[in-house]
Order: sequence, then structure tokens, then C-alpha cells
Amino acid sequence: MISPNHMASMPVSSVVVLSGAGISAESGVGTFRDNGGLWENHRIEDVATPTAWQKNPELVWNFYQTRRRQLLEVEPNLAHIALSKLEDDVKEFTLITQNVDDLHERGGSTNVFHMHGRLRTLRCEISQKHEERMKKDDLGDDFLLCNCCVEPNRLRPDIVWFGEMPMHLEEIYEAVENCDYFIVIGSSGHVYPAAGLVNIANSCGAKTILVNFDSPANASEFDEIHLGKAGKILPNLVNDWLN
Ligand code: OAD
Repeated sequence: MISPNHMASMPVSSVVVLSGAGISAESGVGTFRDNGGLWENHRIEDVATPTAWQKNPELVWNFYQTRRRQLLEVEPNLAHIALSKLEDDVKEFTLITQNVDDLHERGGSTNVFHMHGRLRTLRCEISQKHEERMKKDDLGDDFLLCNCCVEPNRLRPDIVWFGEMPMHLEEIYEAVENCDYFIVIGSSGHVYPAAGLVNIANSCGAKTILVNFDSPANASEFDEIHLGKAGKILPNLVNDWLN
């Protein structure tokens, strides 16, 4: 475990955080691989690949519309709020998230890199432009059309599916290669390239820290590990790091 004194230099440091589904679990957003997680009731091949969208767009659309509607029912938790405090107080701070919810932003974080896309936005299938579509009429079961083309085209979920390239990779690698502390919160370490960012941070000399409910697939890569619920552990850790 880290001691408060050891981390006292964090305010003058460059900190990169990578979050995963576990940070939103205490807000009531289901994770993917825990018991009862999303991938227990849905096959990735059916709802989270470009082929699934081609074969059965209604199924895929309904899966993500349900998750988009859920955004209206959930609130950021103490872990999201603790990260916004960390952002306010350290010199350089970058938040990378695998999450497609908007709880980091609503918890006060700015400049969040959503490497697996976002639920609040949808993407034109033809122009690939994103648009925010969260009004009541945007959350029903029918497909929606874009506002960017002269002949409006169908919108797809603005989600990075398996087999697609994660977003913002250039900025993400740049931040990870140059940080002093790399902190992962609530991720099982199964999905690459996100799960491999800790290796890059290690090879560039950063201190690597994990906050997770249980031991993830890539646990051996971290210098320090804190096991437990992020909403309980992280606020205290942030206070220690900043004092
Ligand atoms: P997972 O569902 O794979 O892992 C969630 C992790 O969070 C697990 O290791 C849990 O132990 C941990 N956890 C659960 N509750 C927690 C809590 N309260 N506090 C701290 N940790 C907790 O989710 P991710 O690793 O984010 O991608 O999954 C990565 C990607 O796989 C997702 O972005 C998604 C998915 O397929 C796409 O859809 C492209």
C-alpha cells in the first residue's frame, strides 16, 4: 500500500488515470465481466461488432438505446468526484476512460478521452460525424437520422465495437508515455489496447497504481494495488495523495 508521505509530490506531477466499468458500478451501471455483467446476458458477437450491426441492427440499436436511456437514471459516485478533485489539484492530469457513460463529466472532470466512444452521441454511418442526441425523442426504439447530410442517413451508436480502432489513441499514448503516475481504476485488464497501457507507463518509468474490486488479469504489472470498491477507497487515496 502507498503511504501518504510517499505520494506527497503528486501535486507537482503529471498524472494519467485510466478508468473502466468498475468506477461506475456503484452508480448502478453494470460492468461487463462481473457476475450478472452485460456480457453474461448478451454475446459480444450479437451486439458489439460491425458484423452484428450489419446482420441485426434492430437488436444492436435496442441494446444501446437501453443503455442511453439508463444515463438519465444514474448519478456520478464518490470515485468520479474524487477524480475531479485530483484533476483540480495536480499540475498535469489526463483522464482516459473505457466507459461510454457520461459520469466522469457529470462528476466534474473535464477533457475526458473516451477511447471506446460515448453513449450521448451518435455517428452518421456515411459521414462518420458525431452528434449529441439525448432529447426525449432520441431515446426511443426507432432508428434516427443524421443532421449532417443533405439526404439524412441512419445514425449508429457512437461506440467502438470489437474489431474497430479505439478513439484518441495518439493523445492517449502521448499522455501515458510522459506521465509520472499511471492509475487504473475499475478495469478487468482483458481488453487491449487499454489493458496494455500499464506496460507502456512502466517502460517509461511511471509509478503504476491500481484501484480495483478484485485482482485483474494484468495485476502483476502494477507497482501498487488497492483492492476494494473505488467509491470507498479512492476519496481517501486522493486526500492522501494531495496532502
Ligand atoms: P469489466 O467488466 O471487464 O471489468 C470491471 C472491473 O471492475 C472488474 O475487474 C471488477 O472487479 C471491477 N469492479 C467492479 N466493481 C467495482 C467497484 N465498485 N470499484 C472498483 N472496481 C470494481 O470492465 P472493463 O475492464 O471496463 O468495451 O471492460 C473493458 C471493455 O470491455 C469495455 O470498455 C467494453 C467491454 O467489452 C467495449 O464495449 C468496446
